[in-house]
Amino acid sequence: MSLDKLLKNVRVLAVVCNQWGDTGKGKLTDYFSSSWAEVIARGTGGNNAGHTVVINGREKIFHLLPSGITYDSQGRINILGNGMVIDIKVLLEELDGLKREHMPYNNLMISEDANVIMPWHIETDVAKNKYQTTGGIGSTGRGIGPCYTDKIARKGIRVIDLFNRDTLAKKIQKVLESYPDQKVNIDDVIGNMQSYADRIKPFVRDTAGEMHRFMREGKRILLEGAQGLLLSIEHGTFPYVTSSDCSLNGTASGVGLSAQTVDLSLGIIKFPFMTRVGAGPFPTEFGGKESEFYCGQDGHTKKDELEKYGIPHTVEDGRIRYDKRDKRIMQMINSPNQFIQGTGIRLAAGEYGATTGRPRRTGWTDAVAASYAVSINGPVIVLTKVDCLSGADSFNICYGYTQDPQASEVYTQFRKQEKFLRSTTPKYETYRGYSDISSVRDFSQLPKTLIRAIEDFERFTKGHVAVVSIGPESEQTIVR
Ligand code: IMP
Repeated sequence: MSLDKLLKNVRVLAVVCNQWGDTGKGKLTDYFSSSWAEVIARGTGGNNAGHTVVINGREKIFHLLPSGITYDSQGRINILGNGMVIDIKVLLEELDGLKREHMPYNNLMISEDANVIMPWHIETDVAKNKYQTTGGIGSTGRGIGPCYTDKIARKGIRVIDLFNRDTLAKKIQKVLESYPDQKVNIDDVIGNMQSYADRIKPFVRDTAGEMHRFMREGKRILLEGAQGLLLSIEHGTFPYVTSSDCSLNGTASGVGLSAQTVDLSLGIIKFPFMTRVGAGPFPTEFGGKESEFYCGQDGHTKKDELEKYGIPHTVEDGRIRYDKRDKRIMQMINSPNQFIQGTGIRLAAGEYGATTGRPRRTGWTDAVAASYAVSINGPVIVLTKVDCLSGADSFNICYGYTQDPQASEVYTQFRKQEKFLRSTTPKYETYRGYSDISSVRDFSQLPKTLIRAIEDFERFTKGHVAVVSIGPESEQTIVR
């Protein structure tokens, strides 16, 4: 991978997602953490995110720890920033997982200002937000929204509060006034929180102050985004969003920096298909409402889908293995039935939630939404998972919306209002499909149809595609 050529004169690099999350940031953040960054800092969200790493040959999913944690022994500093919401129990489980693998985490820093997810946050989230079938937006059920709610209401419990029993007791009593239905044994909660607090104490810092010091020292800093711009509380498809600002701005302020300090922001975009998890409008979705309803119900899993469509697979140590290029999957991708086409693409690209296991909703890449994201997160684009659609007869990119298929007025500016997005019909440009590209190493060697689509996409979004990822391996990365 020659991503290094992008990094000339860069001290602060951000990797953020320009869609609804799950765009494969992990491959890039792992690369930059291992080979470039001295500090890796995360500033938004909590254990609603999920990131797969390979340790001693085994895959592990981290929800809180930044991607650089596996390089701690090489002196990498990993930071959980002030903008995060932290479930300390989950954090300790992740640290215990590292310990079991004899992996150090001596250079970890946890912000004293980060808010703490408490048991009542999780209960409220599960009861109100998690289940789409009972009116929820399909949250991950990890207590993220309620924890940020308390933060904004200035009642949130911060990491620093855990170290003073009296303060903690008073704050818990105060915040529980907002949760009259919850039966909480305050002494039990304090007991648990204080035992967790003892374990994290050595790592707790004023991380914003540390970041300012690292800036002065000229350290190479990677800001690791979470979720995606279209899920941002500020800029996303409200109310079907997460509760943090996962744009470049929020990612920077969540670690105590301004977005102006960022020398290079890489906005990740899946291409030519994209995904969304949870409820909310998704104009280019394969199978539309049927897919949203299906993916929002509980109990649909990767295994069910493999069985339903007769795709051979094996299960080893709980991991499901199958050939993502199986001919039956290819037939699904080329099916005239959009719901089946979307399911085929989900199987071909392995689009199932790392945190919840839910099937992700799939659709064609929306250049209108991408253009909006580029306007906020900056022009440099990384396209990911481009290889997953090889073998499709054709593919589409959405360059506008109409309010009905016959209407002549074409909207090319993104508007995040649900009513608007749900009533639009995407206007597509159709491109010829391409065959296997996983061994291409030079942009000019990509199939002509793909180059044409990428150039059209750049013109429309005013972005610049700097990197094209064509497979999970680090060498399967084309830098232009
Ligand atoms: P919450 O963040 O758990 O409150 O969920 C709010 C919305 O954001 C739901 O639609 C979730 O599916 C979505 N969401 C949260 N985290 C992620 C993520 O890491 N990837 C994709 N979607 C996410």
